[in-house]
Amino acid sequence: MNIPAHLAQTIVDSRAYAAGDPVDEAFRTIRAEMPLAVAEPEGMEPFWVVSRHADIMTVEKQPDVFHNGDKSTFLTLKEMEPMVRFITGGEPNLVRSLVSLDGQEHKDLRAVVFPSVTPKALRGLEDDIRKIAKSFVAEMLEKAPECDFATDVAFLYPLRVIMTVLGVPQEDEPFMLKLTQELFSSADPELNRDRKEVNPAEALDGLRRTMEDLEAYFGVVTEKFRTNPTDQVNSLIANAKVNGEYLNRRQLMGYYIIAATAGHDTTSNTTAGAMWALAERPHLFEQMKADPGKVNAFVEESIRWVVPVKHFMRSATQDTEVSGQKIKAGDWMMLSYQSANRDEAVFDDPFEYRIDREPNRQIAFGYGAHVCLGQHLARMEMRILWEELFPHLKSIELAGTPQRTISNFVCGPKHVPIRFTLN
Ligand code: HEM
Repeated sequence: MNIPAHLAQTIVDSRAYAAGDPVDEAFRTIRAEMPLAVAEPEGMEPFWVVSRHADIMTVEKQPDVFHNGDKSTFLTLKEMEPMVRFITGGEPNLVRSLVSLDGQEHKDLRAVVFPSVTPKALRGLEDDIRKIAKSFVAEMLEKAPECDFATDVAFLYPLRVIMTVLGVPQEDEPFMLKLTQELFSSADPELNRDRKEVNPAEALDGLRRTMEDLEAYFGVVTEKFRTNPTDQVNSLIANAKVNGEYLNRRQLMGYYIIAATAGHDTTSNTTAGAMWALAERPHLFEQMKADPGKVNAFVEESIRWVVPVKHFMRSATQDTEVSGQKIKAGDWMMLSYQSANRDEAVFDDPFEYRIDREPNRQIAFGYGAHVCLGQHLARMEMRILWEELFPHLKSIELAGTPQRTISNFVCGPKHVPIRFTLN
């Protein structure tokens, strides 16, 4: 059974993700009636929709059977593919980053940064991150009684944290923020470089120009860190050698770009979404104030709630079977983290924000060989922000209607106007 056209269209529609409910409703039906089935939205190559938590784990456990790099790793229009292959000299992804690598190359490159993002290694950063959190909290308190929590705090704090970890100077942060938003949100007129609704060819051209800017910037970074190495992540990347050779240009650029971009938009969206949830739920805010020990559970549920990475794609390297469905070599597959994090088979009341899920089996960081490299950093920085902010706040409420980014890939709330009182 194929997924009916209207549902297939909804789950790829950037505006439906901005609206929120239509996507959740579509996936609710898909999970119940056709949990692993083919969608063929207009203008796209058909793909399997993997909507259940268990099936996503099955696919992600087999990285040799389900590849990342043979086709686009995120949803894209059919007409884009030849353009991307033309620009890259044959590769299906504009950026050759960890998420579009497979096999030994993926293992070798992941190992470059992995040791610096383990919970143990991150402990050394706790004080620096707390200092950053304190400064953003102080700025927010000065804005009392109102602020746009998304633009004033949630988008700036994770950016400062990741740039510190990477070794990017503070004056370059606005440039990095702009480029990340262009890369992830090319459909949103407020965030893309042309500031308008763009057609696919214009979007791709905008992305290509963004990439050129990023490449120019990171070319200088490589030189700088090869001359003066530090223990910051960009220096590890610049100086990494695999089999005695530096990473090639595409590997280097891909690595810098994924670390810089995946490292903040995701966390920003989650932080903004958590505040939105709190502002609408006075009992939840009271609970957090009364029991600060619940902060980890709050962070975990905010990640499940927001699901800032809506999907990644895979393609089958051989004929195989998942949940009784016959997948053919070459088939394209959408792993919907949005859907899996609302899976009724795993979560009681999946559409409720609950901090009593023990354990919280959210799968918003993915699973298996490609599981998010920054998951411990993301959790830690969010915990620290809430630890610093909650003791100052007496009440919070929405001061307007929050808005989400128009995107079907990495996205979440872009405006969260709040009114707050202080203790
Ligand atoms: C990969 C989500 C924060 C760096 C991923 C994947 C997801 C994800 C879903 C793909 C996993 C898979 O294919 O199984 C998130 C969420 C975050 C977050 C929800 C915050 C709430 C971060 C941060 C960093 C980061 C802070 C920066 C250090 C990466 C990298 C990969 C990745 C480098 C590629 C890993 C690979 O392919 O081997 N993330 N991420 N992420 N993330 Fe995150």
